[in-house]
Amino acid sequence: MTGCGGSSTPGASTDTGKVADDGKITMGFSQVGAESGWRTANTKSVQESAKSAGVELKFSDAQQKQENQIKAIRSFVQQKVDVIAFSPVVESGWDTVLKEAQNAKIPVILTDRAVDSADKTLYKTFLGSDFVEEGKKAGQWLVEEYKDSKDPVNIVELQGTTGSAPANDRKAGFAEVIAADPKFKIAASQTGDFTRAKGKEVMEAFLKSTPDIDVLYAHNDDMGLGAIEAIEGAGKVPGKDIKIITVDAVKDGMQALADGKISYIVECSPLLGPQLMDLAKKVVAGEQVPERVVTEETTFTQEQAKQALPTRQY
Ligand code: AHR
Repeated sequence: MTGCGGSSTPGASTDTGKVADDGKITMGFSQVGAESGWRTANTKSVQESAKSAGVELKFSDAQQKQENQIKAIRSFVQQKVDVIAFSPVVESGWDTVLKEAQNAKIPVILTDRAVDSADKTLYKTFLGSDFVEEGKKAGQWLVEEYKDSKDPVNIVELQGTTGSAPANDRKAGFAEVIAADPKFKIAASQTGDFTRAKGKEVMEAFLKSTPDIDVLYAHNDDMGLGAIEAIEGAGKVPGKDIKIITVDAVKDGMQALADGKISYIVECSPLLGPQLMDLAKKVVAGEQVPERVVTEETTFTQEQAKQALPTRQY
């Protein structure tokens, strides 16, 4: 089923009314980029799973630019792929291109990140984490950690890519939980674009502009790891002078947690490939799929990181 038109061999029917010839699905996949260790692991998971599921993958890297993703989706529509999957770099601005895919009767699956389209018929399902919940878990750890302290707690926040679902939701979930106690104050909050280099750069600026930082909340490990370099460069001890909470739990982050430089990590799993291929096969076969599939995730303390590290896959 490559969308190449007529076939004499019956196969799975799609909502395009096409019939599979060799039964092989072609998926157009538009990836955000390669901004973080999480993203690299996610790309690997999608590519390996496509291979083992017998799905022909047309992979496109958007280099963190929405216009590149829109171009890639249009090209997948022109190529008449069987299904399009993509991880939207930002939440808004997708309706027109998604409508084009819908008009071409090509089903779309959102993976990892959400869109804010009011029209939910523009995509079949959304597979990925609950980012608000991740932000809440980060806040809950902080509240517990400082439960016996009456002093103000100065927090700086490194946000993910501006306008992206994980940046919006991780910020909101965290803010909701810490709002319960006025001693928690977000002294500065800026984007570090989910990259190590930007995390370092913004943390250097925070260290100059914001006195007495107690806690850094970074929306991913990579920004936290960049910030550690900035903190050490300023002669401070990460994990002691400044407590650090991050999200993801990639190997480098887990190592920094085990070493005591990071204090707590909320897991965000990049291993979405197998579920994505299952959903794609069902969607192409015209089967019903849940409109939301939430990834199962946990959290890690320093002790738990030491135990998990030897078998961590990514
Ligand atoms: O959308 C998932 C987020 O994107 C990851 O937490 C971050 O590392 C990545 O860049």
